[in-house]
Amino acid sequence: MTANILVIGSGGREHSLAWALARSPGVRKVWVAPGNGGMVSAPTGGAAAIAPVASVAAEDRTAILRLCQDKAITLVVIGPEALLAAGLADDLRAHGLAVFGPGADGARLEASKAWAKQLMTQAGVPTAPSWVVTSRTEALDLLHRRGRPLVVKADGLAAGKGVTVASTMSEAEAAVDRSFAGAFGRAGEQLVLEERLEGSEVSVLALCDGQDLVLLPPAQDHKRIGEGDTGPNTGGMGAYAPVPFLDQQDLEHMRSTIFLPVLAALQARGIDYRGVIYAGMMLTATGPMVIEFNCRFGDPECQCLLPLLEGNLAAVLQACALGQLGEAPPLIIRSSAACACVVAAAEGYPGPVRRGDPITDTGRPESRSMVFYAGVKRAETGQLQTAGGRVLASVGLGDDIDQAFDQAYARLDQIDYAGKTVRSDIGHQVRRR
Ligand code: AMP
Ligand code: GLY
Repeated sequence: MTANILVIGSGGREHSLAWALARSPGVRKVWVAPGNGGMVSAPTGGAAAIAPVASVAAEDRTAILRLCQDKAITLVVIGPEALLAAGLADDLRAHGLAVFGPGADGARLEASKAWAKQLMTQAGVPTAPSWVVTSRTEALDLLHRRGRPLVVKADGLAAGKGVTVASTMSEAEAAVDRSFAGAFGRAGEQLVLEERLEGSEVSVLALCDGQDLVLLPPAQDHKRIGEGDTGPNTGGMGAYAPVPFLDQQDLEHMRSTIFLPVLAALQARGIDYRGVIYAGMMLTATGPMVIEFNCRFGDPECQCLLPLLEGNLAAVLQACALGQLGEAPPLIIRSSAACACVVAAAEGYPGPVRRGDPITDTGRPESRSMVFYAGVKRAETGQLQTAGGRVLASVGLGDDIDQAFDQAYARLDQIDYAGKTVRSDIGHQVRRR
C-alpha cells in the first residue's frame, strides 16, 4: 500500500490522526485540510510528512475534491461530525474516493438523538427510557406527568451544549424554554427527554466497515472545566485509556449487546456505515447503558487511544473505507501500556477566550510523549500563538496509568503561554499518586 492520505478538520483529534497515520507503514504523506499551524511533521523518526493545507476550508467541497485530485489522495479521513452529517463522505465517495466516515444517513446516529433512540430501542440496546417532544407545551406536560426532572436533550447537533442534566424541576423547565426559544436553532426544535442514569461514564469506539467492527480500548474523558469535575462543560479537558476497571470480558459484552445490534439495525435500514461508532455509556448497577452515539472519533479520547495502537492504522482505516476490514492486518493494541491526555486551554474557556499569546516550548520530542495542537496559529514571524479555546493536548505513554500521567504533565510543564489553563486532576479516579 502506498498511501497519500487527507485528514479533514483542524483540531487536536485531527492532529493525532495525522500523527498516527504518518507512522503507518506504506504512507507517503498526510495532508490535513485546513489543519493548524502546530501540525508539523511527526516528532519521532521513521514517519511520513504531515502537511496542513490552510488554504482549503473543510466546508469547501470543490476545493477538497481538487486537493484529492492534485495530491492523488488514496484515503480521506473525516474528523468533525458536522461535515459527516452534511454529507461530505457521500459526496467524496460519489467521486470515487475511499472515505473513512459515515454518510449523512449513518451520521444521524449523532445528528438526531431521537433517531438514534428509536434505532436503539428497535435493536434492543440498553438505554434510558425517553420521550420525543416537538413543542414546549408537550415537553412541560411530560415533565409534570413524570413528576421529576428529566435530562433535556436538543435533538440535533449543538456543539456539545444541547444537553441539560437537571437536578430540579425548574432547571429542566428552563432548559425546555431555552431550547424552544431558539438557543440551539433548528437542532432544538425537537427534544428528547430522558430518565437520568447514575454511574461512571466511559467511551468505547469501534472502527466499522459496514459489515464488521473492531473495538478500541475503553476511555474516560473529563468534560468539566474545574478541578473535581466541577463548573461548566467543555469539549473535554483530558482523557485516559484504557479504563482499568473494564476487562476484555466487559468489552466482549458491550460488543454483543450494543455494537453488533446497532450495526445490524443500521444494515436493516440500508445504511453502509464505514467509520467510527462511538458509544458514550453509563456503567449502571444493571450494566452498561448507552447515553449517546457519536459518528466520529472523540476529542480528546482520540489523542489517548491512537498512541496505544501498534500496527498499521492507515491500512485498517482504508480497509474500513473499502468494506474489507477482514482483509486488513490486525489492529494491535499495546495491552501493557496506558495513555494519558491533558488539555491546555486558553484563559476564559469555555467562554470567550484570549488569543494571540505566544507559545513557548523548552522540551523536545521523545517517544513517550506527544503534543497535539488544536487552537493555535502560526504568525508570519513563524511563532506559534494561541488561537482558540482548547490550545493543545499533552499525551503521555506509560507502563501504567500513573506513569502515563507523569509523562503527560511533565511534558506540559515545558510548554507555556499567558493564560494557560490546565486541570491538575485529570484521571483522579484511577491515579494512585
Ligand atoms: P451528550 O451531549 O449526549 O454527550 O451528553 C452530555 C453529558 O450529559 C453526558 O456526557 C452525560 O454526562 C450527561 N448525560 C446525558 N444523558 C444522561 C442521562 N440519561 N443520565 C445522566 N447523565 C446524562
Ligand atoms: N469527548 C467527547 C466527545 O468527543 O464527544
